[in-house]
Amino acid sequence: MGKPTKTDVLIVGAGHAGAALACALRRKGFAGSIILSNDEAHLPYERPPLSKACLLGVPSIDKLLLREQDFWKRANIDILTGCRVAAIDPGRNVAKLGNGRSIQFSWCVLATGGRARALDCPGADLSGIYRLRTFDDMLALHDALSSAERLTVIGGGYIGLEVAATARALGKQVDVVETQSRVLSRSTSRVVSTFLENEHRRHGVRLHMERSIAAIEGEDRALTVQLSDGTCLFTDLVLAGIGIDAETALAEAAGIACHAGVLVDSAFRSSAPNVLAIGDCARHPNDFAGGLWRLESVQHAEDSANIAADTILGRTVSYHDVPAFWSDQYDFRLQSAGIAREADDMVVRGDTERGPFSVVYLREGRIIAIDAVNAPREFIAGRRLIAEGASVDRDRLADSGVPLRALA
Ligand code: NAI
Repeated sequence: MGKPTKTDVLIVGAGHAGAALACALRRKGFAGSIILSNDEAHLPYERPPLSKACLLGVPSIDKLLLREQDFWKRANIDILTGCRVAAIDPGRNVAKLGNGRSIQFSWCVLATGGRARALDCPGADLSGIYRLRTFDDMLALHDALSSAERLTVIGGGYIGLEVAATARALGKQVDVVETQSRVLSRSTSRVVSTFLENEHRRHGVRLHMERSIAAIEGEDRALTVQLSDGTCLFTDLVLAGIGIDAETALAEAAGIACHAGVLVDSAFRSSAPNVLAIGDCARHPNDFAGGLWRLESVQHAEDSANIAADTILGRTVSYHDVPAFWSDQYDFRLQSAGIAREADDMVVRGDTERGPFSVVYLREGRIIAIDAVNAPREFIAGRRLIAEGASVDRDRLADSGVPLRALA
């Protein structure tokens, strides 16, 4: 084993968060050395199209790259692709790579994201069962879909609903199985769930709510999915979109405090000096959630990367960005800001049958969250009102004729 490579910043994981951090450091004038390591074989790429445009067309990594290849060289950011960080030792500031090499760092930033949950029913390891988190996952699903007629999606969350919509556009027969009584229950209210369910049914998706999977049987392209109520779905392939778990293995093995995520403060510092964690894996104090929270979104990846860059640069900053999410399905875009969990009131504006409409969530008269369907202006105005912690006149808010921006 040779001498360890030295770097000022080692970023573990080159998803949206890791790549955004490397870019933010350079943008903010950081002149030190940066290594961005990625266990995937690709340069950093966009994930949102994986469940939509990529499945519809001919997938190409080149079209997804967050920056073209030359950018990283010009910015003097050393990208290690296909390189797994096997362990970190925060006491000695050393990381060990899967290939046996060591890296000595001043700062290590964990941007390790999340792992797609696996099904745990009998038959969960049969071929013909897919998940969707990475470009390579998408390629495998794309391939399988091209020769399939029937798709069963397990989980009515973001992945499940987006892939269901895409598969319908490809003319596939689609069943969606969801354990809860409504889709996207983790992220939104019943009003929005009902709109989504109606849209999916209108486009021919068969929804099976409040059902779990008893077992999956059969062989590739001839699978039987048995539901908890005895229903059997005959299908060519299964996509499991049942959520993610934060990838905390490296941090835990290094003795860094973790609890459903790597625990960090509002500057994204972990319990180990000189180790930060950002993006999906970081459980951070969040004003809008009223406590420790983990956010799974591109917006948060970028916001947390910006704060971590300032922390490394020795600037005193803390995180107060309004969480934001979006999802494209069929001909609508759902945009959400804030966290509605603690709402004690809500106001619906617009046409909840076909859109556009928005749902504004309040707590003690203040706007804390918004969901907007095909209503981008409402979303933008709502996000500003959330950031300001604005109290609004409820009667005017309930009047869809009054634009939200007029309430600011
Ligand atoms: P999710 O948490 O959004 O949805 C998972 C769904 O599966 C939930 O509705 C849950 O009730 C259901 N479920 C859990 N276990 C189940 C089971 N055994 N049987 C049936 N249903 C079950 O997670 P999802 O959709 O897997 O997305 C994974 C990640 O990708 C998340 O981080 C998500 O934010 C991100 N993503 C975001 C998108 C966006 O913002 N537009 C698009 C696609 C993914």
